[in-house]
Amino acid sequence: MPAHVPADLPVPDLNQNAKVVLAKRYLRKGPDGKPVEDEQALFWRVAHAVAAEETRHPGSPWQPDELARTFYDLMISFKFLPNSPTLMNAGTELGQLAACFVIPVGDSMDEIFDAVKHAALIHKSGGGTGFSFSRLRPVNSRVGSTGGVASGPVSFMRIFNTATEQVKQGGTRRGANMGILRVDHPDILEFIRCKEREGELNNFNISVALTEPFMQAVEQGEDYDLVAPHSRESKGRLNAREVFQLLVQKAWESGDPGIIFLDRINRDNPTPALGEIESTNPCGEQPLLPYEACNLGSLNLALLKSGDGVDWEELKRVTHLAVRFLDNVIDASVYPLDRITEMVRSNRKIGLGVMGFADLLFQLGIPYDSREGLKLAEKIMDFIQTESKAASKQLAQERGPFPNFEASVYASRQQGPFRNATTTTIAPTGTLSILAGCSSGVEPLFALSFARHVMDGEKLVESNPHFEAAVKAAQCHSPRLMEEVAAKGSIAHIDYIPEDLRRVFVTAMDITPESHLKMQAAFQKFTDNAVSKTVNLPNEATQDDIWKIYWMAYELGCKGVTVYRDGCKTAQVLCTGDGA
Ligand code: CDP
Repeated sequence: MPAHVPADLPVPDLNQNAKVVLAKRYLRKGPDGKPVEDEQALFWRVAHAVAAEETRHPGSPWQPDELARTFYDLMISFKFLPNSPTLMNAGTELGQLAACFVIPVGDSMDEIFDAVKHAALIHKSGGGTGFSFSRLRPVNSRVGSTGGVASGPVSFMRIFNTATEQVKQGGTRRGANMGILRVDHPDILEFIRCKEREGELNNFNISVALTEPFMQAVEQGEDYDLVAPHSRESKGRLNAREVFQLLVQKAWESGDPGIIFLDRINRDNPTPALGEIESTNPCGEQPLLPYEACNLGSLNLALLKSGDGVDWEELKRVTHLAVRFLDNVIDASVYPLDRITEMVRSNRKIGLGVMGFADLLFQLGIPYDSREGLKLAEKIMDFIQTESKAASKQLAQERGPFPNFEASVYASRQQGPFRNATTTTIAPTGTLSILAGCSSGVEPLFALSFARHVMDGEKLVESNPHFEAAVKAAQCHSPRLMEEVAAKGSIAHIDYIPEDLRRVFVTAMDITPESHLKMQAAFQKFTDNAVSKTVNLPNEATQDDIWKIYWMAYELGCKGVTVYRDGCKTAQVLCTGDGA
């Protein structure tokens, strides 16, 4: 039932892009395709449904009505937004609110096609799915029941890809998948090449799961074993450096595959007693156990500037509210499978992150690629991590810890108890950042002024407001300048703009790959889950450059890396603002 909108509720003040996106994909529609709610009703529907969960907890200091208004104000201030499925589905019949799922793929026809079906149900509800195909027997292995031969992980991935193509996510989002294969799977070479042809596996991002022994073998220049997962038999050896080189070459050609550091991800697994993490969600920021789901939310740093720094008091307030919000979402959400409901409610992972970081730096006059920029990133994320844990502890007192708490690493380290097995994740915020009108995630701006293509060929033209304000203040604003910036994207080589502005208003392509990666590592240091980040490289970057980036990511403690060389052949499955 749609919640009745109180008459005195403030009306959201939306930017033009947000209006277009909300109307196209988020507002509830009737059978005739016309919206049956306006933007105010949308945010109230979400606030009301999420706050209503408060009644489950007699120890809560909040009245649901008061909390609904607080959540509403928080969202329409755009200081915090939950992930898209929550905005689309909270308080509706579908009711599926999480963006991220990992579904296991077992080594039998039954299990493979169950996974295809489960993925379809999840896509229909607006969620994205990650799979490890590492358990599937390699191509040409014997199949006991028929005496035939197996077709291997890559050929089954094509079935998942086709199924995804057919299910438009809830009529709203295009399905997104992550496909992972361990580097010691016998079909690894075929997997690394599986997106070679343009358009192949177009609904997949793919990543190779690198292990610690593999990385050591690369370092030593040694061979390593390929192991058939179903029989544990050795299926030959490959030279680790040659495989690493092939990974680098393919990433140089097309951006795919990415890499994840599997052992490192599992070192941070808060509930190892429940099993190993084998995959992440589609954009890589959320490692999950099989059948786990996670809902995300993002704080908008662009609105949290105070004087010449950050408004820490306000950041603390919104972090605590956001954690309560996201914890309520877990119970408000209807999951497409009982196994998922069980897993999610026993670990209660949430992923609070940030957007608008580049906009904050612009306002503070701090270059993204500077020591000060990195220091600020660490300080902010350290603060959010600490406060989100404090909020989760508070909720554990009110509501009890997550049911698997005693089996978690926190119990053995005598931390907590916490309400949530994880609290922080940095999402790409592809759509959320459009709604909030800020820079996405922790990325630098792609351009200071550009035309954004969203959905069905519509075009939205944007100029960064902080940039406009700064050039006006420096008295060098002119139509000619703005045209030049729109054409070039960057101001690095526009020499009549003052030097200090050129230093602060840097864009993705002005920043060295090393600086991109250092920023990812700075945020990762204080994030439970992972950080969505693309390391942008200029078109003339070499394969050697990518090798160095991969190695540096390993040394800096990142959980994975995605590189994108300007102008290389494929578009990514989820580009900023695309397919939202
Ligand atoms: O901004 P929004 O909440 O729409 O999403 P995001 O932060 O760009 O992406 C977060 C996660 O949502 C991704 O990693 C995917 O798991 C999922 N997603 C999806 O399934 N399909 C999309 N078209 C976009 C995102």
